[in-house]
Amino acid sequence: MKRVLEPELMQDLLQVQAYAEADFSESDNSLIKRIEEILDLESKQLGSKSLIVDLGCGPGNITERLSTRWPFSKILGIDGSEAMLAVARQRKNHRETYSRINYCCCDLGSIVNRSIVFEKAADLIVSNSLLHHLHDPSYFWKALQHFTAQGTVYLHRDLRRPSSMDEAIALQKKYLPDAPKVLINDYLASLQAAFTVSEVEVQLESQGLEHLRVCENDDRYLEIFGSF
Ligand SMILES: C[S@@+](CC[C@H](N)C(=O)[O-])C[C@H]1O[C@@H](n2cnc3c(N)ncnc32)[C@H](O)[C@@H]1O
Repeated sequence: MKRVLEPELMQDLLQVQAYAEADFSESDNSLIKRIEEILDLESKQLGSKSLIVDLGCGPGNITERLSTRWPFSKILGIDGSEAMLAVARQRKNHRETYSRINYCCCDLGSIVNRSIVFEKAADLIVSNSLLHHLHDPSYFWKALQHFTAQGTVYLHRDLRRPSSMDEAIALQKKYLPDAPKVLINDYLASLQAAFTVSEVEVQLESQGLEHLRVCENDDRYLEIFGSF
């Protein structure tokens, strides 16, 4: 199936509301487990001086879990959609345990062209379901480099593009059978916009990031991980 772009930022209020209200807890929790495994693999420990960056954080589903799992580390959630961040900030204000989270509204393009500069490199950079939004994926890999220092660990999980629309519809029926229409449409659009493992391998090679590993994860995801 050919890649079909979807809008980068999720700004439509109905779309934001449907996404924020959906229950992605099973896959979100499995992402945290996977981060634990990768930190172990890379012999990396996170402490009170550590900074974790969650790129394309949306309403904060992963950001909040990172904060619960590593309560002494600082967490920075970045997203270009003010509507998504409004939900994230509202949720943060209701929980004292999220006090080490900061949210920043910023498009990846502004990081790449340095109109926004972050001073501190991250110990861990995470993204979930972001890469497929980008019309030019090189922005993603270039933005990462602005947060990277020796020892930075990465885990990026995203959908991977199925080979046909029938396969995409089968995945939607399996994983989002009863969701609101707006979420189903978004999911199908995301599957069509997603990359394949071999496309990501080409992206990594062209950015000099061949040391990162890419693999398929179950029937719908791909993962890119490793350290600098
Ligand atoms: C599918 S949501 C994922 C949200 C969150 N990571 C999660 O797993 O729940 C993708 C998010 O990436 C953000 N995004 C897409 N393109 C972006 C860009 N160029 N710069 C910053 N954020 C972007 C969207 O606004 C949206 O909130």
